Amino acid sequence: MSKVFEYAEVAKHNTAESCWVILYGNVYDVTRFVPEHPGGSKVILQLAGTDATEEYDPIHPPGILEENLKPEDKLGKINPDSLPRDEKTPVQTGDSKDEGPVDLDTILNIEEIEEVATKNIPYKGWAYYYSASDDLTSKEFNNRVYRQILLRPRVFVDCTRCDTSTTFLGHNVKLPIFVSPAAMARLAHPDGEWGIAYACEKFGTMQIISQNASMTPEQIVADAKPDQVFGWQLYVQNERHKSEAILDRMNKLDPIKFICLTLDAPVPGKREHDERSKNVASNLPVRAAVQEDQSVSKTSTSATTPSKPKSMGMGQSLFWGTAADLTWRQTLPWLAKHTKKPIVLKGIQTHEDAYLASQFAPQIKAIILSNHGGRALDTAPPAVHTLLEIRKYCPEVFDRIEVWVDGGIKRGTDVVKALCLGAKGVGVGRAALFGLGAGGKEGVARVLEILKAETETCMRLLGVEKIEQLGMQHVNTRAVERDIWDGPVLQTDILKSKL
Ligand code: LAC
Repeated sequence: MSKVFEYAEVAKHNTAESCWVILYGNVYDVTRFVPEHPGGSKVILQLAGTDATEEYDPIHPPGILEENLKPEDKLGKINPDSLPRDEKTPVQTGDSKDEGPVDLDTILNIEEIEEVATKNIPYKGWAYYYSASDDLTSKEFNNRVYRQILLRPRVFVDCTRCDTSTTFLGHNVKLPIFVSPAAMARLAHPDGEWGIAYACEKFGTMQIISQNASMTPEQIVADAKPDQVFGWQLYVQNERHKSEAILDRMNKLDPIKFICLTLDAPVPGKREHDERSKNVASNLPVRAAVQEDQSVSKTSTSATTPSKPKSMGMGQSLFWGTAADLTWRQTLPWLAKHTKKPIVLKGIQTHEDAYLASQFAPQIKAIILSNHGGRALDTAPPAVHTLLEIRKYCPEVFDRIEVWVDGGIKRGTDVVKALCLGAKGVGVGRAALFGLGAGGKEGVARVLEILKAETETCMRLLGVEKIEQLGMQHVNTRAVERDIWDGPVLQTDILKSKL
């Protein structure tokens, strides 16, 4: 029979010397683990002596406790009646709860999905998803640049039929839209990454699973259909053996068709919404918390910082342990040793790097032009600029590898424009997370349904029946071309010699 503890006893163990936490009704002694915690010791110490379940659950896949603690670290159970009232607060606290669930069919576009999710998602989760670097310039421009491109519809064309199917790395999919890796989906809804997989299956498309997913890859692909396509995102760790172990795990999972190596964020950008959220109680509804957030920022130079912040910014903690020393010459051969699955490089932002990636075909089969949703380097170019740069300086890249894009996609017209410029696939990240926030797995399905319908309408109005017919003849990019990098022709020998 395991021992039953009173809360008052647990609460005494609230220091680095003796650190106990309550998780799922059990009491753990995590003192030994505090210095090793990937998110830093501070985040655990802030919860020392308390019930940490609410903070812990949405961001830790099952199995992590068992992996990191010894059986003797589990001390016993907590007497639930001894818990203070505010330790038992529910997780979901959005103010839309009072109004009942929103009818997803009444949500008409991706902006509205985000509005509904913003009301539903606990503040910290919202701040983490919404956040981007510095002034949010790249995040906003990622979307705005699509508005600068005009479409050129052809008329007197039979547009009764419209087929959005295509292929990614040779795998058939029904949509050119995929879900990009985006971390911590259970912050939005308990359906989490599994819910995204459900929606992707429903619409016949691909999901790239984040290395920082809040569920295990095995759970996420558990109900995958035989033809369902997944990629898995790799952030190489300083401790390479950890990355090798996870690659080994991925090699055994058939639904995972490729490894998506992330290059655009060896360190996180400065994400102020996320950082500031550490000073706000996690379960405040978003609106109330945004107000509090503003007051914190106005007074942050004075001595009014809340006395006991409940945790730190999510982004900072997730990047702990990520390797910043990756190179073309060392990392790709290392990867080849540990996986035979194709590699997709995510985070290419210049034509030079796109060209170099293409030189590593066939190990590299695709690149994703991405500035990490504006969450890494602010004022880095949007994927549209990089697409146009590749067209101008090294169009042969499109023949050697597939070029996918993400960032800023909110409309079917955005999807179609990217495809016209040469993208083979178009990823959405935040939209899927906000879809979860708006209505769980059906909310993600609604996101894909909206984007699919808008894409079809756009194709029909352009006079196009199939994806492969889309091309430069359908877009006017003059307003964007003015801003494309304008340097000397690509000197491929010099570029390669510097590798
Ligand atoms: C982020 C990481 C974890 O952007 O991909 O927050």
